Amino acid sequence: MSKYEVIKSILPKVWRQKKECGEAFAPSNIALCKYWGKRDQQLNLPVTSSLSISLGDKGATCRITEHNKAHDIIYLNGNELSNNTEFSQKLIQYLDLFRISPTIHYQIEATTNIPVAAGLASSACGYASVIDALNDLYQWQLDKTQLSILARLGSGSACRSLWHGFVEWHKGNAKDGMDSHGIKLPEKWPELRIGLLIFHQEKKSISSRQAMATTIQTSTLYKAWPEKIQHDLQIIKEALANKDFNSLGATAESNALNMHATMMASWPPIIYSETDTLMAMRKIWQLRQDGLQLFFTQDAGPHLKLLFLERSLKEVQTEFPTAEIVTPFDESSP
Ligand code: PMV
Repeated sequence: MSKYEVIKSILPKVWRQKKECGEAFAPSNIALCKYWGKRDQQLNLPVTSSLSISLGDKGATCRITEHNKAHDIIYLNGNELSNNTEFSQKLIQYLDLFRISPTIHYQIEATTNIPVAAGLASSACGYASVIDALNDLYQWQLDKTQLSILARLGSGSACRSLWHGFVEWHKGNAKDGMDSHGIKLPEKWPELRIGLLIFHQEKKSISSRQAMATTIQTSTLYKAWPEKIQHDLQIIKEALANKDFNSLGATAESNALNMHATMMASWPPIIYSETDTLMAMRKIWQLRQDGLQLFFTQDAGPHLKLLFLERSLKEVQTEFPTAEIVTPFDESSP
């Protein structure tokens, strides 16, 4: 099944009058139980389910208009990008999937308040905001589940960025991926805080797509991963239902460390952690021993995301003054 066939089966047969401009915001999301490994590279279908928390007002806004120029024009945070950059090429390929005619080109204005391609899920909120903006431009009136399936075609984890709060990505079983999309979970946890511990703004050393493929092909530890996910998903869901923060934090941290251990066992080895990452981990473990309820998770980059509750805010800010604090359940988020 190709991406085109999936899209054809979702988009309305007759498109309504479009607007002048489509616009949408999508929050970034951080997985507490990670997605690592595809069973279908084309459609970004995962081997396992995963569960994330969206980052409130941290994310991407996309404004999209049609124009008759000979090529797409892409602005990122106010700067026009060359269409030869990796970022532009991936985005243009995604837009190609939705072009009614090859003569139609787009102007995209993407603005994001998180670093791009540093393992902070910029592609997740990026593709979710693009598909939602196209939905607005063409007035497709798709529901969030359909948008989630289409966002997944741009970047797997984007299918969780259509909602605020906790989202589970059901891996699904269908070959066409129609049952592989995000589902919003009902739980809210207003006291939950996330601290973004960003060590630098450089691009990640290896793309998550490439790293996942190498892990599946070569890591002897990968066969244990689906079982680990099944276990952690259940514990995390119980922790959400019971508001058991220690269980949530410990499971999310252990899940991230298992994912990185699986990658490290690949050949060639994949290590996203840097000296700063390991030093911060040791500091967190020491603080925890001293009684602070503080955990972390880590994605495809060296940065850490601190997990803690509102009551620990002062101590966390004292220990990690550079951490950017996110309130995921902030009611004022767009
Ligand atoms: O969706 P991708 O290709 O950017 O992969 C995301 C992978 C992780 O961030 C490491 C895990 C996850 O579930 O978000």
